[in-house]
Amino acid sequence: MYLNFLMKQTIVSIIVRSFVSSMAKSKFEYVREFESEIKCLPNCWIVVRLDGKGFHKFSDVHKFEKPNDKKALDLMTKAASRVFEELNDICFAFGHSDEYSFVFRKNTSIFNRRQEKLLSLVNSKFSSAYVYHWRDFFESTELKYPPAFDGRIVLYPTDSNLRDYLSWRQADAHINNLYNTVFWALVLRKNMTTKEAEERLKGTLSSEKNEILFSEFNINYNNEPEQFKKGTSLVRKLIKQPGRKIELFAVPLHCDIIGDKFWEENPEILDCKAAMKFENDENIPVLSITSRKYVI
Ligand code: GTP
Ligand code: MG
Repeated sequence: MYLNFLMKQTIVSIIVRSFVSSMAKSKFEYVREFESEIKCLPNCWIVVRLDGKGFHKFSDVHKFEKPNDKKALDLMTKAASRVFEELNDICFAFGHSDEYSFVFRKNTSIFNRRQEKLLSLVNSKFSSAYVYHWRDFFESTELKYPPAFDGRIVLYPTDSNLRDYLSWRQADAHINNLYNTVFWALVLRKNMTTKEAEERLKGTLSSEKNEILFSEFNINYNNEPEQFKKGTSLVRKLIKQPGRKIELFAVPLHCDIIGDKFWEENPEILDCKAAMKFENDENIPVLSITSRKYVI
């Protein structure tokens, strides 16, 4: 009798399970076969670089200061810090003008190293954070239309390739900033047209641009803000603030990253086992990236 009952129960459960599984696997399910995924090569540094789309126009429409708008640059860094908060395996970022590069640890297994996941998450978090925090930086300037960023992934197999990549971006920041500083001085202070300023600077060396700044505008380029000359390097650090427990922060630094000094002072970027503790002696305005608990 009891055996009979058990058999009946088993048969019912088999029927139910096969019904449920046929429901879940509809006849349309086969389209999954068309999906493909590309994974980042193992052991390589993963760099995601975002760049503002049409920021020449975007900066004009929103009246960014020329050649550098500190509020716009700080907003980019704020958005980058929200990406740090979202994705723990990002160990470093570098930004200037309308671009930001994010470096994932070389051994990260986040999202199985799927390229589409990494690129789309970094880009969407950055873009939405840029809009979300706009008012924190531009209190009285309305955001006229939604900005967009393009993105790419590049893999670097060695530490030295990664450092060369970052050196390239910082050298680019310096070259562009020197050019833009002279260019806008000629336009805004010498009333040249943009075409005339372009002609004047065609083929000039860095030393000649420095000389124009010094002799015609009394500007010593060396004294320009470090943020404009060196871009922003965002590092992930553990900081103990008075009366609080140790917390994670994104620390924006405006220093040389081409030489060895920076890499010796911040060994945890290349070696995830190195200490991340940071004494904020210079009171750098750090950005909290300890995951927030949202109160409803
Ligand atoms: P695509 O990236 O190809 O879509 O073009 P883009 O118009 O964004 O130009 P690109 O990325 O080559 O260069 C960024 C542009 O953003 C600069 O040429 C500037 O016009 C503008 N920009 C970025 N930062 C600032 C800033 O702080 N102040 C001002 N005035 N403009 C900025
Ligand atoms: Mg751009």
